[in-house]
Amino acid sequence: MAIRGKISLPGDKSISHRALMLASLAGGESRISNLSTGADVQTTRKCLEACGVIIEDNKNDVILQGGDYIDPDQPLNCGNSGTTTRLLLGLLSGQGINATFVGDDSLSSRPMDRILDPLSQMGLKSDSKNGKLPITINKSTLCGIHYESPVASAQVKSAVILAGLGAKGKTSIAEPILSRNHTEKMLDGLGVKVSIDGLTTAVSNLMSPLTPFKLSVPGDPSTAAFFAAAAALVSHSDIQLNCILINPTRIGVFRALGSMGINVKYLEQWEEAGETIGNLNISYQPMKGITITKDEVPGLIDELPVIAVLATQANGKTIVRGAEELRIKECDRIHALCVNLNKMGAEIEELDDGFIINGPTPLNGAEIETFHDHRIAMAFTIAGLVSEGDVVLDHPECVSISYPEFYKELDRLQS
Ligand code: S3P
Repeated sequence: MAIRGKISLPGDKSISHRALMLASLAGGESRISNLSTGADVQTTRKCLEACGVIIEDNKNDVILQGGDYIDPDQPLNCGNSGTTTRLLLGLLSGQGINATFVGDDSLSSRPMDRILDPLSQMGLKSDSKNGKLPITINKSTLCGIHYESPVASAQVKSAVILAGLGAKGKTSIAEPILSRNHTEKMLDGLGVKVSIDGLTTAVSNLMSPLTPFKLSVPGDPSTAAFFAAAAALVSHSDIQLNCILINPTRIGVFRALGSMGINVKYLEQWEEAGETIGNLNISYQPMKGITITKDEVPGLIDELPVIAVLATQANGKTIVRGAEELRIKECDRIHALCVNLNKMGAEIEELDDGFIINGPTPLNGAEIETFHDHRIAMAFTIAGLVSEGDVVLDHPECVSISYPEFYKELDRLQS
């Protein structure tokens, strides 16, 4: 059945986490609308509340009273959320908080030393289980450093910047490839001096609390990507994605769709709170394989699972390299893609840092192992739109990590 109609998405997950955290640093009341409805962002909210931040719902908005933090009296449960853990490690270290961070099995297996390394260079005293959760941070005086990040990770960059807001002197971080830049854009929008020189971002300690703000979070392009992919896959499809964040560091997926031959049209575009937002139209066209290189990976890292699904229906080879970070996401996404696409009858070759898919191949229905990973669950639901036979997910509920309304909205758009 074709995918047709218009859709507006809940707020971008990355900006939602940051909006809550920055509002907690503000001296007064901030109001955030269109916050992500995903469980991960609720996790950030609960962690901040446990640190004494007062957060209330007001109709569809969230109102935060920023100001003072307290030491939480229980471990901060970060659930499945890497962004909550890594950004809060930076923020709370800078604010001199004593806290223990815990998480679910997936999160507890993910590397946190990438955050603890720069923070310990800044003076943080902490304990961890070999660089993984549980982690305890102890109130420490932080001093600014220059950090050369070995990975292009917005979570590492943001953690160092947020810690730098509470550290003595200047803190700077250089990254090998530009990763999403919401933290620096939002701080700049709030009047904080953020110096950007090529791939290096620098901040100094905050002399006073941030100015309280009002923000409407733009629609999440990473969630929109699943609907764009659905339209790209099913003939006669044509959809409009409304009010989507189109920050250049986030829309690699739409560039990739364009290179595959899909019609991606940018309709209206406007600026709000330093970010570009727009309406996009995506319609079906036969697709061809593409090559994605290391430099492009940060701009579409979360969308690679659904791009892999599209590649199975594209003419020719799709080659993805330089994407070794996929192995340490909510699950090993390279492994998850290979296991499940093989089950469906696709031709996929596993590489250490990516995969090669030879298309097109018909897809069979299959029992999909989601590994409790929301993006694997959504990607294979999209694969199921063109499979012979049903796709059955072992844990369909895990989509609620980023987008609880996913199945309902996909049903609505099928005509
Ligand atoms: C995020 C950064 C990315 C991304 C994650 C969200 C963020 O992770 O995969 O879903 O909000 O900063 P890395 O920083 O590890 O690349």
